[in-house]
Amino acid sequence: MLRSANTSSTASLAPLRWGILGTGKIARTFAKALSRSAMSETVAVASRDPAKARTFAAVEEIPEPAESYAAMLENPRVDIVYIATPHTTHLDRTREALRAGKHVLCEKPLGMSLRDVELMTACARQHKRFLMEAFHYRCHPQTAVLKAKLQAGLIGKPRIIDADFSFYADFIPEDRLFNPRLGGGAILDVGCYPMSFARMVAGVVSGKPFAEPSNLLATGYRGTTGVDERAVAILQFPQQLCAEISCSTRFQRTQRAIVIGEEGSLSLTEPWGPRGGGTQTQLIFTPNRGTPEVINIPIDRSLFTYEADHVAAVIAGGALESPCMDWGDSAGNARALDLWQAAIPRHGSSHQTRGS
Ligand SMILES: NC(=O)c1ccc[n+]([C@@H]2O[C@H](COP(=O)([O-])OP(=O)(O)OC[C@H]3O[C@@H](n4cnc5c(N)ncnc54)[C@H](OP(=O)(O)O)[C@@H]3O)[C@@H](O)[C@H]2O)c1
Repeated sequence: MLRSANTSSTASLAPLRWGILGTGKIARTFAKALSRSAMSETVAVASRDPAKARTFAAVEEIPEPAESYAAMLENPRVDIVYIATPHTTHLDRTREALRAGKHVLCEKPLGMSLRDVELMTACARQHKRFLMEAFHYRCHPQTAVLKAKLQAGLIGKPRIIDADFSFYADFIPEDRLFNPRLGGGAILDVGCYPMSFARMVAGVVSGKPFAEPSNLLATGYRGTTGVDERAVAILQFPQQLCAEISCSTRFQRTQRAIVIGEEGSLSLTEPWGPRGGGTQTQLIFTPNRGTPEVINIPIDRSLFTYEADHVAAVIAGGALESPCMDWGDSAGNARALDLWQAAIPRHGSSHQTRGS
């Protein structure tokens, strides 16, 4: 629970005190975002190697580098742990933090499978601690505006979702993107975004926070380490809505999220959250007749600072789940990702599977 600075009713809330677990790429990005959050304070960082924690702490100006992951979990000044380690470690690190009485923001994908996610959410429920899968774009004003425009009927009834998250990475077999022992694969690394987006938009259409596909057709290709490097899926949802989603770790950056309705389309110019800073981002509304219209969305924080502030506000309110990405939503995404991964043939030939 976020602590109150004093007991008077006008007391301002003390910042949420974060411990960062892991010192890799995203840990650095998040540490910088936390330093700009008025609702947060980073008190500790932990690494498998205490020297790395000390270096990270010096660069990011974090007061307490821990001797180990376990030592940071014993630190009573840490309210919440940000898990920034490879996917395969999320289950164990999250449960250790929850059992130590910490809230947890865990990087996506929350678990390697639906089973992992169920174990993690059961642990959060048992220990009465906040847990959220770190889908930053869900906490961003862009997503709120998109949902409001869809709810207001701007494009009429949504019928098609077209979403992709692809990027080119050099093939390094031991890198977590390609190493099966570290949870490699495009679906888990970036396919989780278009999947979560499609389920969120389907939820808007159904008047719910999210909706599950009734059918999933998918295929893709694995690389030499055996993990998927590109994948596509077609999802069928209630209300005549379907989605075409794709992802890759080996092909040029094409990031896309478009919702097409009976009266026009809404396209996100920076679909997975504006990363470049700036003071605004845009949705493009293209009506079936007439000229496209730019919808400007003012922004005053970075993508990750919005996420940190959202987490602090939810915890201050006493909730264990985020309304932007609750436990049922994470479980549904994991179930759909399980089906998508199972559809990727072992040896190149195309294949399809039927969903729930
Ligand atoms: N939300 C986003 O935009 C975003 C972007 C990138 C990544 N991510 C997610 O964040 C997680 C980490 O990704 P990353 O790109 O930051 O990875 P990374 O650069 O490889 O860093 C991962 C860190 O985890 C720690 N670690 C613990 N066990 C490890 C092991 N067995 N092998 C390697 N490192 C291990 C290491 O820190 P220590 O040695 O200090 O313990 C390492 O620096 C992934 O789950 C990924 O999906 C999210």
